Amino acid sequence: MNVLLIGSGGREHALALKISQSKSLTKLFIYPGNPGTKQLGQNIELVKNDENSLINFCRENKIKLVVVGPEKPLIDGLADKLILNGIKVFGPTKAAARLEGEKSFAKNLMQEYGIPTADYEVFTKDEYFDALEYLKTSKLPVVIKADGIAAGKGVVVASNFEEAKDALEDCFVRSTFGASGNKVVIEEFMTGQEASIFAITDGNEFILLPAAQDHKRIGEDDTGKNTGGMGAYAPTPFVTNIILDQVALRIVEPTLKAMRDKFSMYSGCLYVGLMLTEDGPKVVEYNCRFGDPETQVVLPLLEGDFLELLNSVASGKLKKRSVKYNGGSSVCVVAASKGYPDAYEKGKVIFGLNEITSDEMIVYHAGTIENEDKIVTNGGRVLGVTSIIKENNLIKAKETAYKALTKLHFEGIYYRKDISDKATKNLD
Ligand code: AMP
Ligand code: GLY
Repeated sequence: MNVLLIGSGGREHALALKISQSKSLTKLFIYPGNPGTKQLGQNIELVKNDENSLINFCRENKIKLVVVGPEKPLIDGLADKLILNGIKVFGPTKAAARLEGEKSFAKNLMQEYGIPTADYEVFTKDEYFDALEYLKTSKLPVVIKADGIAAGKGVVVASNFEEAKDALEDCFVRSTFGASGNKVVIEEFMTGQEASIFAITDGNEFILLPAAQDHKRIGEDDTGKNTGGMGAYAPTPFVTNIILDQVALRIVEPTLKAMRDKFSMYSGCLYVGLMLTEDGPKVVEYNCRFGDPETQVVLPLLEGDFLELLNSVASGKLKKRSVKYNGGSSVCVVAASKGYPDAYEKGKVIFGLNEITSDEMIVYHAGTIENEDKIVTNGGRVLGVTSIIKENNLIKAKETAYKALTKLHFEGIYYRKDISDKATKNLD
């Protein structure tokens, strides 16, 4: 079959690699893709934000399946439009993507169905003073979240009242996040290890892929500003088989049931962001797509036909046995541009890409672009330098990823040195 993959980041490079290995693939197109995906299929150009141009492309190129990488097109209803036009899609409808697109919807649903999550209260813009009063009596730290998507910047963990008030004003007074900040969720702070689990589902049945752990802060030991993710590893030992069963039973099953009850059946990848608290796993957030950079470490741990898995979901009947865990481990270290996550430099030539020849290493492209015959930096998170080890040995997986990094260079390169240490050093 011909497949169209949408997106341009490291996650999409990882998806493209896995799809390209399927025996059922005829041709893979990626829109818009990046220099990494270009080695695995054909990157295409379309009229920006024009769904009709996308649908025409699918018709002309006999696309059997569209796989949507990022959340924005799903939240805006791209899956609905494709389905209406008779094109199969991996990714939820607009109504189902509300699980990510409207945090208040997700929280209310969890409350209604008894799904474990932090205690919370929702406030709208005209309830600004009520929200302030609520904050005055809230236990610190307290978490303030813009209701809609805000490019990963809508969540503030405030350690005092002033910070909390400032976060509230960002949403309600300064409208920093536009309409996404017209409602806020104020939430109890949870402690524990975080983990990310992908549930692949047709709306009724599901499988859970190996659990990963992301590293969101810019600095070592989880210090400094939040980023889009500075690295990840899988599988994370913090998610034991018992916890995995709890996640399936107490979280994923009731979430899918709730969505069916609300006539918003959820199909695709349900990303469950978890806090492993003393009282068991609790939901931090849902995302309506694969995580980035978790995908880069989870997909290499699957054996079987990944495209068959995605296609079975899009066809409405999950083939549970399409893939299984291969027993391995993987660490992905993000190489970022100097200055990231604030203003950063672009256009720096990347050296050493051709020197990564080992089967145990892969360099995913995220913020890169081709300039004449060179690959240069073009984003904050530039590369996902990743190890893929046959055995479940995170120490070796870490060593291999950092060994790959020694072969790569661009001016101002920055990366964390401690990706996966939490697992191997058993810090808490
Ligand atoms: P989100 O965008 O919802 O993933 O939030 C970003 C990060 O904020 C999460 O990965 C957590 O580290 C942190 N966070 C969000 N909600 C909470 C919470 N209720 N308690 C503690 N940390 C949280
Ligand atoms: N790694 C976090 C996310 O994909 O949202």
